[in-house]
Amino acid sequence: MKRIITSPIYYVNDRPHIGHAYTTMITDSLVRYFRLIGDDVFFLTGTDEHGQKIERSAQAKNKTSKEYADEVSAYFKNLWDYFQISYNRFIRTTDDDHKRGVQHAFLKMYRKGDIYKGEYEGNYCVSCETFVTSFALGDDTHCPECGRDTTLIKEESYFFALSKYAPRLLEWYANNPDCILPRTKKNEVIHFVQNDLQDLSITRTSFSWGIPLPSELGEPKHVMYVWLDALLNYITALGYGNDSSKMDYWQHQYHIIGKDILRFHAVYWPAFLMSLELPLPSHIAVHGWWTRNGVKMSKSIGNVIDPKVVGDAYGTETFRYFMLREVPFGQDGDFSQRALMDRINSDLSNTLGNLLSRTTSMAQKFFGGSIRAESAQIRTLFATEMDEIESILASLPELAQQVALHRYLEELWRIFMLSNAMITQYEPWKMLKEGKDEQVQALLVLIANALLKGLVMLYPVMPQSAQKALAIVGFECSPTLFLRMIERKEWLESFTLKVCEPLFLRITEALMPESSSSAALLEPKHTTKPIAQNKEQQKHQQIDVETFAQSQIRVGTIQHAEKIEKSEKLLRLLVDVGEEKPRQIVAGIGKSYVAESLLGQQVCVLCNLKPTKLMGVMSEGMILAAKDSHGLKLIAPVAHITAGSTIG
Ligand code: MSP
Repeated sequence: MKRIITSPIYYVNDRPHIGHAYTTMITDSLVRYFRLIGDDVFFLTGTDEHGQKIERSAQAKNKTSKEYADEVSAYFKNLWDYFQISYNRFIRTTDDDHKRGVQHAFLKMYRKGDIYKGEYEGNYCVSCETFVTSFALGDDTHCPECGRDTTLIKEESYFFALSKYAPRLLEWYANNPDCILPRTKKNEVIHFVQNDLQDLSITRTSFSWGIPLPSELGEPKHVMYVWLDALLNYITALGYGNDSSKMDYWQHQYHIIGKDILRFHAVYWPAFLMSLELPLPSHIAVHGWWTRNGVKMSKSIGNVIDPKVVGDAYGTETFRYFMLREVPFGQDGDFSQRALMDRINSDLSNTLGNLLSRTTSMAQKFFGGSIRAESAQIRTLFATEMDEIESILASLPELAQQVALHRYLEELWRIFMLSNAMITQYEPWKMLKEGKDEQVQALLVLIANALLKGLVMLYPVMPQSAQKALAIVGFECSPTLFLRMIERKEWLESFTLKVCEPLFLRITEALMPESSSSAALLEPKHTTKPIAQNKEQQKHQQIDVETFAQSQIRVGTIQHAEKIEKSEKLLRLLVDVGEEKPRQIVAGIGKSYVAESLLGQQVCVLCNLKPTKLMGVMSEGMILAAKDSHGLKLIAPVAHITAGSTIG
C-alpha cells in the first residue's frame, strides 16, 4: 500500500528542542512500522520558512530572511540525520517547486470562486502566525494560545471562503471516526467549527517575506499567509502543481502534529483540500507537549532542552524509546533526567538487556549456543505462554495504527517480561539437574522465538539496537523477513545464539550536565504530571479511557505478611503481581487484618504508583481497599485469577 506520513514542517525562527524531536521521532517510528509491514511509505519533513515571525528573527540577527532560514533549516536537517530519521524528502518552503505548487493551488481555489478580495481588520499573533478572532479573544488582547500580546491589523487581504465548508467538515468528522487521533481530541475541533468558523484571511500586505500571489492576479503587494503556504507542503512535496509525479502517495495519509496546531490541520487543511478536490487526510494524529515543571518548553521561557545533548549523553535510540514510552500519546509529559534514567534502567537494562544475556548465557553454557526443539513439543509444554505471546503480537498492529506508541511498547515489553518470568518460574538450571534437557531446550527455543518476534516489532522504534539484538539471537538480516512468520504464528525450531556484551548499560549517575537547561534536570522525579487542578475541579473531572489505562492495577497474591515494628497499622507484604520477584508493599491495614490471615489472599494492586518509604520500609505499590462505618475491607477478585492479571 502507498502512503504518505508527515511531520509538521518546523519554523526556522529558532533551533530545535526536544518537543520538535519528539514529533519527528513519533513520525519516524510510525513510518518504519508501516515499512516493516511492507507498505511503500513517503516520509515528509522539512522547514517552514516564511512569515513575519521569521522575518523578525532574521532582522534581530542582522541577517536576510533567506540567510537566516538557510542556517536554521540546516540545523534541523543535520539534527534529523543525527537521529537517523528516515525521511524521503526534507522540504523547505523556500524551494522553487514548492512555491510554484502553492501559486498553482491559490489560482485553482481563486478560479473556483473560493477566494475573494476584502479587508482584514482584527488581531494577529505573530508568534503563532494566526489571526485571533474576537470570539477567541474576548475582552483581552492576548493570544489565547501562547499568551503573547496580539497586534491589531487592518489591511487589504484575500479571503478563503472557509465558512462555506463548515457543513462538509462536520460531515467528515462524523463519518470518519479515526480522522483525528486520539479520538478524544475531535470534540474541540467540532466545537470550533460549529461556533467560530469565519472566512480566513490568506494574504498579507504589511511585510514581504512570503510567497507572492500568482502573477496572473497582478497583486505584487500581497504575499501568502504562512499557514496556507505551509500546509500545502504536504502535496507540493509530491509534485502538486509541477509534475505530480508522486501524487499517488496521496491515498493514505498520516499527519503527526502537536496539539497547538490541531486547528490548522483539522479545519483549514481539509477545507483547502476540499476546495482543491483532493482526498482528505486519513489520520491527523495529535500529541501533547513536553513541559518543564508543567510549562510548555519554549525558547522564550528558557526552559528548553537540546535533543543533541540528550542523544550524546544517553544514546539517540535510548532517548527515543524513553520519549515514546514515557508519555501516553496525546498527553503532556514533564521531562526529567531522572525519569529518563529510571526508564533506561528498568525497561532496557533490567528487562530486555537481562533477558538477552540470561538466554544467551544459558544456551552457551548448557548447549554450546545451539538449541533446538519442535514447535509441537514447545506447545505441549508451554501452551499458555505461547498463546499469550501470540495474542500480544496480534494486538500491536491496531495500536500502531492508532499511533498509541506508548501502548505498543508497553505491550511489547510484556513479551520480554513474560520471558524473564518463565526463566524464574521454571528454573532451567534445576530442570537440567533433573535430566530434563529436552524441556530446557524447548523453553530456551520458546524464549528465543519471543525475543526474535519482540525485537522485530521493536525495530520501528529502536532500529539499530533491535538489529544488534537480532544478531545476538542469530539473525543478521532484515527484520522484514520475519514479518510473515509473525503473522502466520510460526515458531522457529532451532537457534544459534551468540555470546553478547550487555546492550544497555545500567545508569547510576546522571550523564547530562545539569546546565543543559536553565532548570535543574533531575527534578521533578516523575513525568506525565498533570497540570495542577484544584480539588473541586478534580472531583467533577471526567477522564478518558487512556487516562484510566495509565493506572496499572493488577491482581496480586500475598505471599508473606508481617507487622512492622513500632507501627500500629502498617504491614509489610510480599505480593506476587506476575513479575520476576514479588513486590514489597507496605499497607496500612494492620488494624483490620492479622498478618498471618493474609497469606494466599488475592488483592488488587496499583502497580505503577511511585515507590515510597513508609517507616523506613520501601513500598512498591498500593493494595486497594474500601472503608465504611464498619471498617476497612480489602478489594479482591470474586474467584481465583492468575497473579499479574490486569484489571481494567
Ligand atoms: N511551522 C508550524 C507547522 C506547520 S505544518 C504545515 C509549526 N512549527 S513549530 O516549529 O512551531 O512546531 C512544530 C511541531 O513541534 C509542532 O507539532 C509542535 O506541536 C511541536 N512542538 C513544539 N514545542 C513542543 C513541545 N514543547 N512539546 C512537544 N511538541 C511541541 O507549528
